[in-house]
Amino acid sequence: MNKVYQKRRDILGKLLPKDCGIIIPGADLQYRNADSSYNFRQDSSFYYLSGFCEADSTILIKNNNGSIESSIFVPKKDKLKETWDGHIEGPEGAISSYAFDNAYVNEDIDSLMPDLIIGMDRIFYLLGNKDNFDQKVVSWIKKATSKDRHSKSIDIANGTSLIGNMRLIKDDEEIAIIKKACEISADAHIEGMRSVKPEMNEQAMEAIYLHEFAKRGGRFAAYTPIVAGGSNACVLHYVENNETLGKSDLLLVDAGCEYDMYASDITRTYPVNGKFSSEQLAIYEVVLEALHAAIECVKIGNNIMDPQTKSEKIITKGLVDLGILKGDVDELYEKGAYKDFYMHKIGHWMGLDVHDAGDYMENNEYMNYQAGMVTTIEPGIYISNDAEVEDKWKGIGIRIEDNILVTKSGNLNLTSKVPSDPKEIEALMS
Ligand code: GLY
Ligand code: MN
Ligand code: MN
Repeated sequence: MNKVYQKRRDILGKLLPKDCGIIIPGADLQYRNADSSYNFRQDSSFYYLSGFCEADSTILIKNNNGSIESSIFVPKKDKLKETWDGHIEGPEGAISSYAFDNAYVNEDIDSLMPDLIIGMDRIFYLLGNKDNFDQKVVSWIKKATSKDRHSKSIDIANGTSLIGNMRLIKDDEEIAIIKKACEISADAHIEGMRSVKPEMNEQAMEAIYLHEFAKRGGRFAAYTPIVAGGSNACVLHYVENNETLGKSDLLLVDAGCEYDMYASDITRTYPVNGKFSSEQLAIYEVVLEALHAAIECVKIGNNIMDPQTKSEKIITKGLVDLGILKGDVDELYEKGAYKDFYMHKIGHWMGLDVHDAGDYMENNEYMNYQAGMVTTIEPGIYISNDAEVEDKWKGIGIRIEDNILVTKSGNLNLTSKVPSDPKEIEALMS
């Protein structure tokens, strides 16, 4: 039995004020059409606290005056269902293999949950996280407080930050898995660079990435890959991935696998014919400088907005140097002129979710970095065909994205294995 989940439940339970509880719903099975389901993916917070991967399950963790008690509601054993869909743990398995103190069948949740939370001061749960769940929590609390005229009232609180901020600092088990996810994705990007050829379709390139992920153990992508040739790269969330790659195009691929439930999130932009044009290279060098400078800022004590500011300033200056923006660099920066070409944020937390849980602000201020955080750094410049610039720049969209672990002594770029230096990319592709 992996004890890490029980340890996390204990830590979370101790973060709760005394005589409070937290309810965490698991995911339900989702259907693609009729009775054909997607592969089940457990809710990330639920998984973080249990490692348990059966649909329709719910966790309750209580801090009973300092002592932590964890309960789980799970699907009941059903021999016929197991014949079709595989092993079901049932309550007994949830206790013996997942170390819950109590386990019940999920069908009994409406009658049992009110009794389990009677006498608590406050119940936390992930507000708005699951359809119809808010109403369920309210009804359990109502039932618990109205069982007897003299029952104690129970407050409701949002536990999103409580769990999110715990997930924000990755433990050693998580870091090892994230490193592996990043390594697989880096290898897939290397194969992508080696494989691309003019006239290939974007979806053939997508298939190469998915194949390279899966054969290394990352069966699913952590998010829908963006495989964008030429000006498609200027559509930030382009996922059609169905056009033919022109021989003078750049190809932007934003693709990362999920490995053992953890995400990776890499973007590389490379020339379909293996050689950057001078305009492509000029823009690329600005984005690369922003990437390097932003990564430098990711260290303990620095503010999480430092990479943002740094990248905005470098991109503004780079665009002025190339004549794409015209005017004084400082004034253009203050005006936010870069936003016409660099319109998204520099990055996001990454972990079980690609856009991971965890706050970005604390006491109304942006946080400082702490060891164990994992963030993406992903500057970009996107010059659409409609931009008011010289024709030679039009249709160039470039993003470079790495995954950075904050360490005690600085940071570790978990995705540096796949080259971002243009000379190294060209050498790899030759
Ligand atoms: N792939 C999504 C992102 O880069 O944020
Ligand atoms: Mn990405
Ligand atoms: Mn990202």
